[in-house]
Amino acid sequence: MPILAPNIRFSNSATTKNDTAILLVNGELSANAKANDKKKGGLLSFQIDHNPDFKGECGQTLTISLPPNADYARMILVGIANPKNPKPDQFETAGGKLASLLTMVGASRVVLLNADEISEENLSSMLLGLRLGSYSFDIYKTKKKDDGKKKKFETLTIVSANAKKLAKATDQGLFMSESVALVRDLINDPPNKLYPETFAEKIKSTLVPLGVKVQVFDDKALKKMGMGCLLAVGQASENLPRLVVMSWGGATTAKGKKQKPLAFVGKGITFDSGGLNVKPYEGMMDMKMDMGGAATVTGLMAMLAKRKCKVPVVAVVALAENAISDEATRPSDIVTSYSGKTVEILNTDAEGRLVLADALTYVQKTYDPKLIVDLATLTGAIMISLGLNYCGAFVNDNKMWEQLEKSSATTGEKIWRMPLDESFRREMDSQFADIKNIGAGRFGGSCTAAAFLGEFIDEGRSWAHLDIAGVAMSKTTPTCPVPFASGYGVRLLNKFVEDFYG
Ligand code: BES
Ligand code: ZN
Ligand code: ZN
Repeated sequence: MPILAPNIRFSNSATTKNDTAILLVNGELSANAKANDKKKGGLLSFQIDHNPDFKGECGQTLTISLPPNADYARMILVGIANPKNPKPDQFETAGGKLASLLTMVGASRVVLLNADEISEENLSSMLLGLRLGSYSFDIYKTKKKDDGKKKKFETLTIVSANAKKLAKATDQGLFMSESVALVRDLINDPPNKLYPETFAEKIKSTLVPLGVKVQVFDDKALKKMGMGCLLAVGQASENLPRLVVMSWGGATTAKGKKQKPLAFVGKGITFDSGGLNVKPYEGMMDMKMDMGGAATVTGLMAMLAKRKCKVPVVAVVALAENAISDEATRPSDIVTSYSGKTVEILNTDAEGRLVLADALTYVQKTYDPKLIVDLATLTGAIMISLGLNYCGAFVNDNKMWEQLEKSSATTGEKIWRMPLDESFRREMDSQFADIKNIGAGRFGGSCTAAAFLGEFIDEGRSWAHLDIAGVAMSKTTPTCPVPFASGYGVRLLNKFVEDFYG
């Protein structure tokens, strides 16, 4: 598990020595704080009066340096007033902004004095944002940014009359911060370090201690099983494919016996060179993120296990490296998928749908799940359609779409419905095999990709395909200070499971 600063603890009183104090301000100082301030000479009121831009709006801050004889070196006022049209992630953003401010001023031991003046839910979001806002990824730097001279943001003590209860109420936010950071770590890791074998190991070492059962199928096992599509994608790399199955809460392989599990499936291309249909320079640059779907599914399983989700869940990730060698799959090769259908591979860069086809068949054959959500950085076309902030959702079940839409509205992870239609499927008719892996032309690339996947979904099975190619990456934001992996999807799908299934 990634270690996120700061260490957060809850206490009934501010006994430990701290260098920075935080006071939440709901528009203006509370009566309690005002009286306290007056006793201490009125510095806070004076500073508020002389900084008219500080209105105590959610996320606004005002840093006040304190004199040498004071309890702290500085006091930071943090606005928590709800605007008229609150955004779902506003408290997360506020926490993220606060994290960067605390790091900038060199705060090390911080105390939050009046946690009881904010709702537990909003505090939980703020702590999630604060943790995510202090995310870093510098394990490969031999020289640290400030040579260790600057103090690290080490501890945050939260003072509350109900410290124990508050600790319990906010643990979801902390679990989430660790799960999102796990997704980011996996995506940010370079492809010479994270490849199918090491990815599978990492899943084991992270999830088994949380109580998740992990099963790894290596290339030999995959050959025996007949996973022709997954093997074809990975055969040119010395790092051969793996299929990893994670199960939680007694998800069973015995069909129909217990409660049917929910299933999540992830595309895990640890590097997508395009294969013989090689990508150009710009296109290949970011392709270590092509395992983003598998990373998100892994992070989701971590979250579900941490919060002890009540329903059985199974997750399958198909891991392969799409490389080039004399053993590479050729455009026009025909392979047999795990489902038995033959696939003509006409473009080796449309590899995500191939590995997903085998994983989707596997999870249905083995677990007969209640529903499936697959996640994949599947097409560049989804970025043309929806930009970088909306995930494209192809859903064959209206009820499931409504649930996803609601989860999106409460978490702020944006989603937009896209069409599944027979006409897209027809574009993929092959002259020589049952289906080919590309459409007729350049248009509707995300829709033809989704239609291909649909071909491997059983009749009547509820299924959503989320194309996360646009949203898996992020520029710098208050809650994503390292610009690359965003960690999108864990919040959305955890909410989806929690609100509608348990
Ligand atoms: N991994 C890419 C999709 C992608 C592109 C993800 C950019 C993130 C950013 C995928 O495997 C791919 O190459 N898709 C092709 C499909 C085409 C060959 C039919 C694409 O989108 O161009
Ligand atoms: Zn590709
Ligand atoms: Zn790809």
